[in-house]
Amino acid sequence: MTDLAWVFGYGSLIWKQDFPYVRAETAYIEGYSRRLWQGSHDHRGTPTDPGRVLTLIEAPGERCFGRALLVEREVFEHLDHREKNGYERHEVAIHQAAGSVAGITYLGSPANPAFLGDAPLDAIVAQIKGSVGESGSNVDYVLELHRALAELEIEDPHLATIAARLV
Ligand code: BEZ
Repeated sequence: MTDLAWVFGYGSLIWKQDFPYVRAETAYIEGYSRRLWQGSHDHRGTPTDPGRVLTLIEAPGERCFGRALLVEREVFEHLDHREKNGYERHEVAIHQAAGSVAGITYLGSPANPAFLGDAPLDAIVAQIKGSVGESGSNVDYVLELHRALAELEIEDPHLATIAARLV
């Protein structure tokens, strides 16, 4: 018997699906915004020169748009490993055109050791330009996501402002 669950992707899950899924739907969650505030010591940086990758921060009244993927529960073990640098599973209500479902998203809370938080725009851009990890450059990470969001017609001023400084 299959055991399926929804996972909400707001970052690399939108464009890097290295796992099987049954369905994908554009969706949003409420009360969060995506920010490049999580340090990456593995995929897009190193422990001494961490890159900046996405996490969700609490933002009352905001909606964060992304993709909802229906997956076998065993996929979470793969994602737990892939996103081991500070991310934890978090239960959320995922809103889709057909209605709302309960699901899981991954976020790096401000309490996790890799969390970087905000910084001046010039410093964020410089850090991203200077960071490379085992999955490639931090610049490519931001631009891949920016391209994927544009294809889905999802607007994100934070990401767009930073992406514009990287091309
Ligand atoms: C995501 O694309 O939703 C995601 C972002 C950070 C860690 C894991 C997943």
